[in-house]
Amino acid sequence: MTALDNVSTELPYGTFTAVMGPSGSGKSTFLHCASGLEKPDTGTVEIGDQPLGGLSEKALTLLRRERVGFVFQGFNLLPALTAEQNITLPVRLAGSRLRLDRDWLDHLIQYTGLMERRRHRPDELSGGQQQRVAIARALIGRPEVVFADEPTGALDTTTGRAVLQLLRGLVDEVGQTVVMVTHDPVAASYADAVLLLEDGRITEALRSPTAEVIAERLARLGDRR
Ligand SMILES: Nc1ncnc2c1ncn2[C@@H]1O[C@H](COP(=O)(O)OP(=O)(O)OP(=O)(O)O)[C@@H](O)[C@H]1O
Ligand SMILES: [Mg+2]
Repeated sequence: MTALDNVSTELPYGTFTAVMGPSGSGKSTFLHCASGLEKPDTGTVEIGDQPLGGLSEKALTLLRRERVGFVFQGFNLLPALTAEQNITLPVRLAGSRLRLDRDWLDHLIQYTGLMERRRHRPDELSGGQQQRVAIARALIGRPEVVFADEPTGALDTTTGRAVLQLLRGLVDEVGQTVVMVTHDPVAASYADAVLLLEDGRITEALRSPTAEVIAERLARLGDRR
């Protein structure tokens, strides 16, 4: 079967893109292909000026570690490590290829509001705090692009909004590139562009839409099915 069909899009540096669509429409597959976690059967993916197609598994692993940040819905934190150790893990895994920038670490911890929690382990943190640790971890290596699959899906409204403001702020203040899958029109309205996926195709691209417009377009997708 075809999970993604003829998808062609550019995600400009320094922009925040939301990917929406019904369950099974290919959102996670899109994110995995765009980030080099999965290889499309046909077609090409480039990060910056680097085509991913010709890279070996080892080169892909290094590229994902050094140039891409991931925020998974399940957080994927290591339970035995403190918040700070979880955040710095990608840098330590990269060995001599990445250097831990202490000032950036302190900035991220402050920015994510985790100052009082840096020595706590994940089971001593709330869901929102764990999500913020996962976001700081995705950013520690100053990746060219951050991919987030439903980063607010498990959070209450208030904590979810704080996470969205954090992502929006990174785009506005340091020119971070962010790609986020979400089911929530309000979450998607924080983005500069919203891509609507339907049966593996991008059927619509909305520029700076309001939550109301997004909700209305999503409802229309539902009606056509
Ligand atoms: N590795 C895979 N091999 C084959 N088919 C897959 C694979 N992963 C997902 N699919 C199928 O591809 C389609 C798109 O799946 P995907 O996980 O991208 O959907 P999604 O939009 O993220 O849905 P959800 O909102 O439920 O997370 C689905 O029909 C799914 O069953
Ligand atoms: Mg998914």
